[in-house]
Amino acid sequence: MKSRELREQVRQIGIEQTQMLLSGSWWHSIDLGNGQVTPGVHSLSEMQTLYQALELPEDLTGRSLLDIGCWDGFYTFETERHGARVTAVDCWRPSNFFTAGQVLNSKAEFHELNVYDIRKAKIGAFDIVLFMGVLYHLRHPLLALERVCEVTRDFAIIESHIIDKMREADEPVMEFYEFDELGGQYDNWWAPNVECMAQMARSAGFARVELLYRTETRAALKAYRKWNDKPESVHPGLVIRDVINASTYDHRFPRSGPHSFLSIWVEGLPKTARRWDTRVEVGGFGIHPAYVGPPGDPQYSNLTQINAPMPPGLNLGQVLMRVWHDGKLSNDFAIELIEGSPW
Ligand SMILES: C[S@@+](CC[C@H](N)C(=O)[O-])C[C@H]1O[C@@H](n2cnc3c(N)ncnc32)[C@H](O)[C@@H]1O
Repeated sequence: MKSRELREQVRQIGIEQTQMLLSGSWWHSIDLGNGQVTPGVHSLSEMQTLYQALELPEDLTGRSLLDIGCWDGFYTFETERHGARVTAVDCWRPSNFFTAGQVLNSKAEFHELNVYDIRKAKIGAFDIVLFMGVLYHLRHPLLALERVCEVTRDFAIIESHIIDKMREADEPVMEFYEFDELGGQYDNWWAPNVECMAQMARSAGFARVELLYRTETRAALKAYRKWNDKPESVHPGLVIRDVINASTYDHRFPRSGPHSFLSIWVEGLPKTARRWDTRVEVGGFGIHPAYVGPPGDPQYSNLTQINAPMPPGLNLGQVLMRVWHDGKLSNDFAIELIEGSPW
């Protein structure tokens, strides 16, 4: 259990935040030009330090970016200043965002949307997605991460309050707050440790995650949709023989939903291959296998079975998939993605 003193400290910070919000003041300091800076709780230099810690490319020209939970809009306007084509989303219309946007002559698009309603069919997909300071405000954090993954093409930055200080653990842990136990605020529901954040991001469909930073109470992860170790050329000794739907045992593949689980039958994988060193890619997106090992049916003992969920955000129609292991890349195998359930 966390100590009473710590709980009190965290509660106090929350009370200050709430007072700040009620007084209608700014959370982000934003440089409006002409020497004007919005009077944010976080100073401009603090905001710039946080921005630097995200390690975004200096030049974002030509990149599309989605800022989920934009609030006053510091990250929207800063990434726009670096050249990105930005879309901002929040579950309400924060007036500060529009005030600052007008002064800055921002071209950023704004959508008033709950994170659960962010769907590729509705707002498209983005090279980069910022999902910062929102996770612990959500009752359904894993569903939200699935939505984030669905609209991410390259990587997402996931930033959250964390509980590692209070619960040292290598195991994934999340704390639940029924009332105002976290920061004295009623809209805080769950806070994970870093291990839990990373595992949830992968489970939501990201191929791999890197820790950008961790302080006593906050952490940011960079969650990628693609593997970074794909071999350049096909190895003739590694061959995908067949791919079936792991739920329905046939060749119909819904692109999402409870039955979109793949079973890949591969020749040439060593018996020592495991899920952490075996890569699956579908339609260009990496995904973690849930199982790598002998097939259930002994007549196929010359093959290895790889089971993996379908990566979120794929288009309907034909997609190519491939696997690799230990520097050996398989052939391309085409499957046809359909809408909805096969039943
Ligand atoms: C703590 S602020 C973070 C602001 C900014 N992203 C940052 O990191 O400084 C959380 C923001 O997420 C928004 N938010 C909370 N729940 C949300 C939801 N379900 N869907 C979309 N936005 C949400 C809030 O309105 C608020 O603007």
